[in-house]
Amino acid sequence: MLPNKRPDDMVRITTPELAEKFIEEQVAAIREQVGDKKVLLALSGGVDSSVVAALLIKAIGKQLVCVHVNHGLMRKGESEQVIDVFRNQLDANLVYVDATDRFLDLLAGVEEPETKRKIIGGEFIKVFEEEARKQEGISFLAQGTIYPDILESDGVKAHHNVGGLPDDLQFELVEPVRLLFKDEVRVVGEKLGLPAGMVYRQPFPGPGLGVRCLGAITRDRLAALRESDAILREEFDNAGLTSKVWQFFTVVPDFRSTGVRDGKRVFDWPVIIRAVNTVDAMTATVPELEFALLRKIADRILAEVPGVCRVLYDLSPKGPATIEWE
Ligand code: XMP
Repeated sequence: MLPNKRPDDMVRITTPELAEKFIEEQVAAIREQVGDKKVLLALSGGVDSSVVAALLIKAIGKQLVCVHVNHGLMRKGESEQVIDVFRNQLDANLVYVDATDRFLDLLAGVEEPETKRKIIGGEFIKVFEEEARKQEGISFLAQGTIYPDILESDGVKAHHNVGGLPDDLQFELVEPVRLLFKDEVRVVGEKLGLPAGMVYRQPFPGPGLGVRCLGAITRDRLAALRESDAILREEFDNAGLTSKVWQFFTVVPDFRSTGVRDGKRVFDWPVIIRAVNTVDAMTATVPELEFALLRKIADRILAEVPGVCRVLYDLSPKGPATIEWE
């Protein structure tokens, strides 16, 4: 087992060579810890769980059972990428659960942001627990805990405001990246051959698009959110901004505004563009985007996303605003 404190003399993993050495050591350590037993992992597709999955696949192959729960609040193409990378490319033992209807039915009519978060987190644990019970002979639970999780919140991943698995499902933990900082996890992920889009993925909240579809989530606004977010990401990519802006996404509020389309008045949703730069997410600034880029994104969203008649750019730094709207 790895210690709780990062040794003072531990070398920072900054190069592919150092990552290779780390991978070799961890592969050996995982094999020793796990033996011929089975390991379960909740694979969200985020950087940390993806790197842990790739490490474990290298160490123990099909003894790892990855469970990817699609809560219906993923960004466009994300669950598909998890399936493509882990099932098709890495030949992993991957259980894919499309729980979209379950989550959206539970969330119907729920407006309060923290209640939404609790429902999403609680239901996630339930779905994962159900899948865990279907698996036979699991002895270990792998987790993408990283060092900031240990420093900031007692080893619990930030913002997971729900409990964990019940007592009878308390497995021994396998946490191979628990002493690493995020940038080191990324170097290891690259060395393991994960796609850059996964390794350099921007932070994405656990409750996903659920906190960006403001108020009570509806399927039409969720669809508008997902499509507008995909357009924003594509245009940021084309403009070379993906690695330069820390986090960017769209938000769809739960009020309409008047518009005009084909000579007729409409009463449609606005889309808000949010982009921020930050070091630690405690404070954040708003980047000065080229106006031509903003206009191109707005034009595309207005032309391609049904039910949207207005696009806005949020100019508020953190503080006083938070990064997310809810
Ligand atoms: P705020 O909105 O608090 O966001 O300025 C700071 C960072 O935290 C992310 N965030 C979350 N992450 N679950 C998460 O896993 C959440 O409920 C949550 N809320 C905010 C946010 O995306 C930003 O990177």
